Amino acid sequence: MMKEECKECEEIHRQGLQSQPPKLTSAGKTVLAVGAGAAALIYGLTVPFLLPGFRKICLPFVPATEQQITNVIRCLRGRSGSIVDLGSGDGRILFSIMKQNVSKDSSLNISTADGVELNSWLVWYSKFTKWRLRNVIPRQSMNFYKRDIFKTDLRHYDNIVVFGVESLMVELEQKFKTELKNDGLIIACRFPLPNWKPVMEKGEGIDKVWSYDIFSSK
Ligand SMILES: C[S@@+](CC[C@H](N)C(=O)[O-])C[C@H]1O[C@@H](n2cnc3c(N)ncnc32)[C@H](O)[C@@H]1O
Ligand SMILES: *[C@@H]1O[C@H](CO)[C@@H](O)[C@H](O)[C@H]1NC(C)=O
Ligand SMILES: *[C@@H]1O[C@H](CO)[C@@H](O)[C@H](O)[C@H]1NC(C)=O
Repeated sequence: MMKEECKECEEIHRQGLQSQPPKLTSAGKTVLAVGAGAAALIYGLTVPFLLPGFRKICLPFVPATEQQITNVIRCLRGRSGSIVDLGSGDGRILFSIMKQNVSKDSSLNISTADGVELNSWLVWYSKFTKWRLRNVIPRQSMNFYKRDIFKTDLRHYDNIVVFGVESLMVELEQKFKTELKNDGLIIACRFPLPNWKPVMEKGEGIDKVWSYDIFSSK
């Protein structure tokens, strides 16, 4: 039964397997392996109960590839203000953006980065990483919330990044239409918005990202 409901899981996993995992220190590998195990366990235990809240959309934790993150940052060049990652996982996209933002030759001007994530363990792990990077990234510029994407008010955000699945993108399109600021930017990873016309496309295959503004929804 789960299998049937979860063709998105299968699709995203199949594609995820073809991607190169990012390089990690051995300490990082251990922490992540333990974390991934715990996350998988928590996910397995909670998903059957959460499915109605998920609106039957099953979106597993598949981390963004390094190339995907590079493409996201390319789309963000020249952008200012806040950013939110919808389904932020272990926070890697936001940490890369903020590290890039503090580097001297950056063309980014991001003031705050928020992560919204349903899985408590991943939220905790993101907060831990934020603490670990406290000497690199200003602490008050990043926040992680255990929250449903669909219960998150997007009106305060200048930039939105999301790595979802096809069925999620269909539902999000409507939400973006009503909540996105006039000068807001959406960056979609791996799965594009079904009806909007992208203003920018970066990368190929599973690493591809698309960016959109409110005018491309018209
Ligand atoms: C494909 S992963 C992407 C993780 C991260 N953005 C990255 O690119 O590395 C999607 C994440 O969304 C989370 N998620 C799924 N449904 C959600 C929902 N309704 N609200 C918040 N997070 C959700 C999952 O737990 C998972 O961590
Ligand atoms: C950076 O962003 C702030 C608002 O967050 C804005 O006031 C400022 O002009 C921006 N600077 C540049 C160089 O774009
Ligand atoms: C991001 O970069 C801009 C431009 O260099 C800088 O003004 C801003 O303080 C940085 N944001 C954070 C949170 O460090």
